[in-house]
Formats: sequence, C-alpha cells, structure tokens
Amino acid sequence: MGSAELNEFVERVTERTDIYSVVSRYVSLSQRSGRFWGCCPFHNEKTASFSVSADKGLFYCFGCGAGGNAFKFLSLIENITYFEAVKLQAQRLGIDLPAQKISPELERRRRAEKNLIKLNETAQNFYHEFLIKEARGEVGRKYLAGRGITAETIETFKLGYAPEEWDNLLTNLTRQGFSPPQMEEVGVIVRRKNSSGYYDRFRGRVMIPITDIFGHVVGFGGRILGAADEANPKYLNTPETALFNKRKILFGLDKSNRAISAAGAVIVVEGYMDAISLYSAGIKNVVATLGTAFTPEHAKLILRYVRKIIFCYDSDEAGQRATIRALPIVQAAGAEVFIVKVPDGKDPDEFVRKHGKEAFEELVKQAETLIDYRLKYVLAHTEHETTDGKYRALQEILPVIENIKEEVTLNEYCKKIASALVLDEQMVADKCAEFFRRETRKNEISNVKRLKPSDDTDFKIRIASEDVLRMIWYENDMLDYVLAMVQPEIFPKEHQEIINWFKSCAAQEKRPDKMNAANELSDEANVELSRILMEDVEDIHDTEVAIFEHSMNILRRATLEKKYHQLLKEAEKYNSSEEAHVKTVKALLSIKKEIDKLRSNG
Ligand code: UTP
Ligand code: MN
Repeated sequence: MGSAELNEFVERVTERTDIYSVVSRYVSLSQRSGRFWGCCPFHNEKTASFSVSADKGLFYCFGCGAGGNAFKFLSLIENITYFEAVKLQAQRLGIDLPAQKISPELERRRRAEKNLIKLNETAQNFYHEFLIKEARGEVGRKYLAGRGITAETIETFKLGYAPEEWDNLLTNLTRQGFSPPQMEEVGVIVRRKNSSGYYDRFRGRVMIPITDIFGHVVGFGGRILGAADEANPKYLNTPETALFNKRKILFGLDKSNRAISAAGAVIVVEGYMDAISLYSAGIKNVVATLGTAFTPEHAKLILRYVRKIIFCYDSDEAGQRATIRALPIVQAAGAEVFIVKVPDGKDPDEFVRKHGKEAFEELVKQAETLIDYRLKYVLAHTEHETTDGKYRALQEILPVIENIKEEVTLNEYCKKIASALVLDEQMVADKCAEFFRRETRKNEISNVKRLKPSDDTDFKIRIASEDVLRMIWYENDMLDYVLAMVQPEIFPKEHQEIINWFKSCAAQEKRPDKMNAANELSDEANVELSRILMEDVEDIHDTEVAIFEHSMNILRRATLEKKYHQLLKEAEKYNSSEEAHVKTVKALLSIKKEIDKLRSNG
C-alpha cells in the first residue's frame, strides 16, 4: 500500500478508536476526578496508579511510567508492534486494511501460514486445558509443582500436558475442523510407518509452546516426566517445519522484549526451563536458544532491541565449547557480548531457585566480556608451557580480539595476552596485525565483508536499509513506496548505488536478478547486495513484513529529521513576519508531528 493510503487508513482507525473501550477489555477501570483508574497491567501493583484520559485519548501509569495512546497500549499488552496494533484495532472495528502491494502468491502463502499458526494455537489450548482441568493432567501438574512452577507461570507460558494416549490431540483437532495433513505439516502428529493413519507426536509430556516474536505459536517442546533414555529423549521438539526454524527462534522473546529494552541487555540461556524459571523469578529480560548454538540470525533478532547480550550457560563443558565458538560471529554482527558462568555445576534454573533473584542479579553484574572470558578459557584449555603451545593458544585467542576497534583497548589486550602466555608484547602485537591482515583478505574473498558500525544511529540505519533492500529484491513493487518515504541520501553510501540500480531496472520494466546485478553493479555494490541477500535466502514471511515496516519507520524518521534540519536553517534566513517564514514554520510543525508519531510507533 502507498504511503497516502497507509496514512489514511491509520487516521480512519484512530478516529474511530476510543481508548476507554480498548483498555477496559484488559483492565477494570473506575471513574474518579475526570479520569478512569485501574491497576496497571504492565507492572505489579495493588493500588490503582494506572489512569486513562478518555478525552485526550491517552493512558499513563504513575507507577511505572508506561503511557501513550490506544495503539501503544495494545502493542504493549499484546506484545505486538505499533502497526500490528493498528491492524488489530482495525480488525476489531471491522475496518478493512487497504489493499497491500503484495503479490497474490505471497498473499496465499501468508494465508496458509496463518492457518498453520491457528492450528498450533488450538493444539496449545488443548494441551493447556488438559493440564489445568483434566484429572489425567494431574501428573503434569505434580511435575511442574515439584519444579517450583506456579499457576501464574503456567498461565504466562501457556504450559500444557499431552496425555499418554495415541490420538487424543488428533481426534480433538479433527473435530475442530483441521485435517491430518495440516497437523502433520506443523509436526503435532506423525504418519504411521507400516499402516495408514497418524498418531500424536507428543505423549505423556509437559508441553512448552514455542512462540515467535509476535507470540504466534510456531512449535512445541515436550518434556518427559520421568527419566530419559535412548528411545525417549528428555525433550521432544517440533521438527523443522514451514513455521519452525530453530536457528531463527529465541524462546520467550515475545514476552521479554519490553524488559530487554528497559534493561538495555538480554540474558541468553540454553534451556526452556531456565528461561521460564528466570522469568517467573522476576528476571524478565531473558530468552533461550533451543538446544542449538546461537546463530547470527538470533543476533539479528536481538539487535533490534539491544546490543548488549549476556550469555548465561551451564558450567557444563560440552555446552560451553559449542556455543562459545559461535560468539565471535555474534560480536562481529555488532553485539557487545558478555558471559556469565553459573557456579557449582548448576544451570540458571537451579541456581535462581536455590539462591534467589538477587543472587542471580549479582552473578550478572559480574559478567565478563567475551574477550576476557575467552582468554581465560583458552589459557585453561591449552598447554601453553611450550613455545608450540603458546603459539597455538595465541591462534585461538586472536579471532576474539579481531573486532576490537579502539587501538587503546587492543593494546591493552595484547599486553594481557603477552603476560598471560609469557610472550614478548611486540611479538603478540605483530602476530595480531598479521592475523587481521589475513582475515580481512579472507573476508574479501568470501564476500562476507561486514562494515563496522560507526555509531548506533548509523548502525540502525544500515540494518534497516538492508531489510528494505531485501524486501525490494523480492517484492519489486515496494520500490515506489520506499522512494516516496525515504530520501535517497538516507541510505548508506554503498546502498545508494543498489537503489539507483533498482530504479533503472524498474524503468526498463525488468526484474532485478543476480545475473543483471553482476553485470551492471560495481563489484563493491554487487558484493554488498549478495551479502544482504545471503542473510536470508528464504521466503518473505509475515515476520519479514513486520520487520520491513519497522525498518521503514527508522528510515522515514531519518528522512524527516534531515528535512527538519534543512528547513530550520531556511527559517532562520527569513524575517519572522514574512509569509515565507510562516510557511516554513508550518511545514516544520507538520514534520515534527510526523516524527513524534513515528517515534511513538517504534
Ligand atoms: P537442558 O538439558 O540444559 O535443558 O537442555 P533444561 O531446560 O535445563 O532441562 P530441564 O531443566 O532438565 O528440564 C537445553 C535445551 O536443549 C534442548 C532443549 O531446548 C533444552 O531446553 N534439548 C535438550 C532438546 O531439544 N532435547 C533434549 O533431549 C535435551
Ligand atoms: Mn535445567
């Protein structure tokens, strides 16, 4: 949809939205001194400090400071983006979305995806109801209670129980109108090997729904109640499906994203139960990887909220080795990486239950930088008495310090390494320089040159620009919309050539493809474009559309801020009584208004 239609749509929904009815769906409100009051849904409180002003269309909590308009409220309470909130409200008011400029094929895929999510959500409800209501759910309730999990936590994470039977879910979902092939597609049932028919994948397990950043259920983890063995793993998970890709999902992120932004950091743990346990202990800025190494895709998800990532892994050796290896990549993506080690062989869940929230927070305060951690790790795990050993240890450490930009810090680490390995400082510095030269060359060859961010804003714009370029590549029609909203100079220099090339492709009515790109773009731009496309070779899913909207918000804001400053300069040239001055000031105000609106959107 074009920007005009979009604005018109948002305005129409805004006009018909009454904040009282939006909020009172979630919070019980009573009237006092011209306002409505209730208990704030965003923090724990017993006395009402949450207020709604119907005539201003705003809510504000005097306790936690949360505030904004009706859409902001919806986005917070439903854990969705601002634009998703506008769409949700439109849906509730029965206002149609303006036609999107998305291909019918994409539209079809999105519809199919929605159906699968609905199926998963129905399965989630089935498991959940079974756990809390059925007599046969008692074993599940006992198990969770034994692990200190409260009814509130069960509710928050919609935990469930899959009965020890072969086709309970299958029958139930069939009755609700879903077909076995659909159920098989999301992985909740399995086709029988030697005869026809299907059976439930999850049986006799506590069920943990796994959600994407919007809270859509995309898969499940099922934990066995007793001891695991060869045939019965501790956790049985949804296999890779159209919805479920472990590399891209962080368990809990839909619930923790606000706490993550507020804390300015995210704590990454390894297990579902670790995340659930920390969250319910009040450490809410937590996510879990699903038994896989932390990937650059995970990093990208998180970098939308914060740059500081604190890994908190079991002290168990195997876990550490696999995951820690991946971390320099994460650091290279622009993250500040810290490591917390939980003492005495415990995992975060056991630790927080035994020692409490404050003790855990104390651990987090003592988090080490990845570099210090790695240095220690290498020193503890390499035989560095001999010259040979020293050299090997050095080779292990160098990748970790590769991303240090500040010379002072780099020198400091060279000193540290030299003294730890009892090596000459100059020699370490030389090896370092040699290693960096080699790596740079290697990266250039493999086309994965990652441009270092110069500061936060540039960094955000760069990532946003990448998302937008990727969207245009797949959905060429978006180009007009993007160009209408974003000034070309806002894009990073290396991306401007790509944008211009998209324009010339559109003018010649040809679809940009890799072949044309290689022929028509400079080598540099071509490498950059390949890198951008490489990050995500899969289809454009719902998530990508939301990410696109978020990224457009960032670029649009940058455009408006630039315009604003240009106009401001112009305004200074006129005498305040001149008509031109009045006009400029008016324009300034309207830009300011749009900036504020975008700001509250995201
Ligand atoms: P852990 O064994 O550390 O999980 O495995 P946990 O959450 O602490 O388990 P509890 O406390 O014994 O219940 C870490 C993660 O690895 C994946 C799961 O995602 C788990 O949360 N995993 C582990 C599996 O997928 N399958 C398994 O059999 C084991
Ligand atoms: Mn555990």
